[in-house]
This record gives sequence, C-alpha cells and structure tokens, in this order.
Amino acid sequence: MKTEYDNQQHKTDRNAAIRMLQAQDKALEELYRRADAVRQQFMGNEVFIRGIVEFSNVCARNCYYCGIRAANERVKRYTMSADEIVEVVRHFPANRQGTVVLQSGEASAAFGDEALGKLIRRIKRKTTVAVTVCIGNRSREVYQYWRDCGMDRYLIRFETSDPDLYARLHPDSSLATRLDCLTILRDLGVQTGSGFMIGVPGETVEILANNILLCRKLDLDMIGIGPFIPHPDTPLGNTPNAYAADPEMFLKALAVLRLFNPDAHIPATTAYDAIFPGTGRDLALQRGANVFMPNATPNRYRNNYLLYPGKPCVDESADQCGACMIHRIQALGRTLGQGPGHSKKRAIEKIP
Ligand code: 5AD
Ligand code: FES
Repeated sequence: MKTEYDNQQHKTDRNAAIRMLQAQDKALEELYRRADAVRQQFMGNEVFIRGIVEFSNVCARNCYYCGIRAANERVKRYTMSADEIVEVVRHFPANRQGTVVLQSGEASAAFGDEALGKLIRRIKRKTTVAVTVCIGNRSREVYQYWRDCGMDRYLIRFETSDPDLYARLHPDSSLATRLDCLTILRDLGVQTGSGFMIGVPGETVEILANNILLCRKLDLDMIGIGPFIPHPDTPLGNTPNAYAADPEMFLKALAVLRLFNPDAHIPATTAYDAIFPGTGRDLALQRGANVFMPNATPNRYRNNYLLYPGKPCVDESADQCGACMIHRIQALGRTLGQGPGHSKKRAIEKIP
C-alpha cells in the first residue's frame, strides 16, 4: 500500500533525520550546538513554567505501557475536588507559573466533562493563568464546550506515528482517532500540543524519524516527548526501551525535534529526570527544550500517579519543586518566562 510516507521529500527529510539521530562524537556535539542555537534564535532565553496538577488517576483505558491503566489494581485511585484544585492554582505565583496543566487518566467518570468545564471557568475567573487540559480523546462537542469555558490549550500525544505499532500499544483506541482529536482541537482555535514516547518496544529509528516529522506536519504549538520507561505492573513491564543500550538517543531525539520544529514550545519532560536522575531535564533544556513543567500536585497524591517507575519529585512538595526548578533554570544562565507563554506560531489575537 502506498502511504504518504512514500513521497520523495518525506524520504529525503527522514533520511536527514536518521543521519542526525545516528550522530557520534564531533557530529553529535555539532547537533547539540545547533539545536541550542535554534532554540535561542526562535524561542529566546526564557524558560516558561507550566505547573502540572494530576487531578485524578482514575482511568478507563488500558494502554499497555501506562502505570495507571484501568486493569492495574495496585493503584490507589484518587480524584481531587474542584475546590482543592482551585486552591492549588490560586497559589501559583502569578509571574512564574503562568499556566496550569490539568492532567488525569482518560475517559473517567470520576470528574465529569461538565464538572471540568465549570472548573475551567472558575480558574479563568479567579486567576490569570492559562489553562491547558490533558485528559485524552473526546468528541468535538466536548472540546468546543471546554473551549467556550475558556480552555486555552490541549495536550494529546499521538505516542507513535506508526498505526500498527499504535494498535499494539493501545487495546482500546486507534491512531486515526487520536489524530482526529488533534484536527478538531486545531479547528476550534485551541493551541494544540502533541508528541510521542521514545523507544517503545517495536520502535525503529525510522519510526522515530517519522514521529519527529509528523510533529512538523501537524504544525504543533507544543511538543512533548520523553523516553518510554517500563512499569512493572503493566504488560510491557519486562520489555526494555528500544534504546536501553544507548540512552543518548533520548537527547538526540530532542535535538532533532527542535531542528525540525524551530518555533514550537518544547518542554523538558519529567521522564528525562527518571533516565538521568537529577540532570535529565537540565540536559534537555540545553538540547532544544524551552519549557519546564514542575509537578504541582499536592504531595499526598503524587505517589499514586506513577505512569512509570523512577518518576522524580514524588516526595517533594509543590513549593520544593518550585524552588528547585528556579535554581535549575538560573544555574543554566536562563531566565524565567513572564506571563502565560502562549504559542509563538499563532498570534494570540487570531485565537478566538
Ligand atoms: N513511560 C514513559 N512515558 C509514559 N507515559 C505513559 N506511560 C509511560 C511510560 N511507561 C506518557 C504517555 C502519555 C503521557 C501522559 O505519559 O506518553 O501520553
Ligand atoms: Fe490511562 Fe494510558 S492507561 S492514559
């Protein structure tokens, strides 16, 4: 079957991406230098801060890699109340954490779609922070309703660009549906973010290159990527990351992602710290990333939101993460982003 990947331009770009992903020694140094220079040129020296509130770990899906999948009975399930969430967001220092990312398991009845709309309205009324939502596949009507309530952005990773591999990782959804969600969100004028895991079992370097090129094709406002980390209580618990022997690949992927997506917001995601303890997110910020997403979930819930093992910061408080993050950003010679840090791609007045 002929696919969109058969066209000549795509092949040329994919081969260029693969060559970069295989860089060693001097070529690798040069790749990192260029990624950092492109980040500096297009996104500047500021690091934008988005506090993540993992407001519920209840999930109806069974993604084979995810620690909070519905079938994992070892997880102690929780759902924060709207009051509790608003209280957390009110304490976001207005000039530092300019965005809240509301994340939970997918398709859960624990916090209904209407309740979420009301919560978005309350946050927008009471604070100046931008609201990003990250809770999976929904219908156009639901996305539209949340947009009307004031939702600014939505994150929904496509996880892998290979439809067969996607099907092997997700028993209850398809890549096509996921991509439809992204199209709908974009149509509605929501700033959209997506991304993928690096090194899921079965991934090849060609698929990794295609993942990077799909991000460019989707013209995303934000792109979050991070290494796949096997969780022992999942079906993929004993299957190592495809690049387990070469963790440098995780940073190379980030650098190549930046070169192909010069003006997208790219976070230094938490999973980098799980692979390179204490330094992963700093390394990511030096190889193309320009956003930091500290965990703002109340301490008592953190241990129950383990998508993968080795997640950092589970014993810290939101204040401790905030202070640590400011220190880390400043130690790199970078400045703290001011304001909400909206998309650089679409002038904000064009967003309805
Ligand atoms: N390893 C790394 N990332 C994971 N995610 C879920 N499970 C894992 C895992 N085992 C990522 C997925 C999801 C995001 C919220 O967390 O990419 O979209
Ligand atoms: Fe819940 Fe993957 S199992 S998001």
